[in-house]
Amino acid sequence: MIKKGIILAGGMGTRMSPLTKAVNKQLLPIYDKPLIFYPLSILMLAKIKDILIIVNKGQLDQYKKLIPNGNKLGIKITYIEQDKPRGLPDAFVLGEKFIGKNNVAMILGDNFFYGQNLTAKLLDCAKIKSGAKVLLHSVQTPELFGVAKVNKNNKIVQLKEKPKKFISNNAITGLYFFDNKVVQYSKKLKPSKRGEVEIIDLLLKYKKNNKLSADFIGRGGAWLDTGSINDYYKTIAFVQAVENRQGFKIACIEEIALNNKWIGKKEINKSIKFYGICNYSKYLENLI
Ligand code: TTP
Repeated sequence: MIKKGIILAGGMGTRMSPLTKAVNKQLLPIYDKPLIFYPLSILMLAKIKDILIIVNKGQLDQYKKLIPNGNKLGIKITYIEQDKPRGLPDAFVLGEKFIGKNNVAMILGDNFFYGQNLTAKLLDCAKIKSGAKVLLHSVQTPELFGVAKVNKNNKIVQLKEKPKKFISNNAITGLYFFDNKVVQYSKKLKPSKRGEVEIIDLLLKYKKNNKLSADFIGRGGAWLDTGSINDYYKTIAFVQAVENRQGFKIACIEEIALNNKWIGKKEINKSIKFYGICNYSKYLENLI
């Protein structure tokens, strides 16, 4: 099982400026909690307890105010600052020491996942021993995404960034599972025309070796990239609708830690004290 995970939570957030001028995108609210809770919850659902969060230079203090370390969650959180957005595979160069000899999962800090059977799927993906695995989701506008075409065995046979000519409806989401080769592959990548190393080039290396497979979130699940203003508000509306209807919270990180038996009543009480009197704390009180 993959034991290490990276959240890539830096970036300029240009599309959401001026909202992101003073505050990192991942610290903005998605309904009742900061965006960073959502990708963090996904790694925790995959039972990953050793997590590296990559943030922008100068923004570490803000993150640490919110998640000082993983103690209250029974996990280990490490931070690294990225001095400028060099592209998604830079995560594996910056994270080389953190990754060590292990396999690793990586999730983009602004990606939202939700759905039935998602936990089982995540646990299944986390089993990979060699190669790479991506999660795909059907979209209506594939020309705006990195897309993949798969064969019967869920091996990826074609891969293209923002294809002008239709190849498939399956967009590559921002959650990836890699074997340890990812570090060496990432180090060798050359920046593209826009000056960033590209995740698609990294995935193409795995594909070339016939080592790139896929799984599907499925139509019962939702994937939203919160990086544009409209998608950001769509995600908020989604969370608000689901939470108010069901009375359960999406991405309550303390609840996931409790369910995973990583923490008990004592840590939940610490979190309640930390957050103060608010609806989120009330929800935590009800858990215990
Ligand atoms: P993007 O959405 O590609 O970039 P961005 O967040 O800077 O937004 P914009 O395009 O509007 O400027 O990045 C996806 C996620 O990865 C996002 O959560 C930020 C993060 N990221 C980094 O942490 N470092 C990087 O070098 C890059 C490119 C992205």
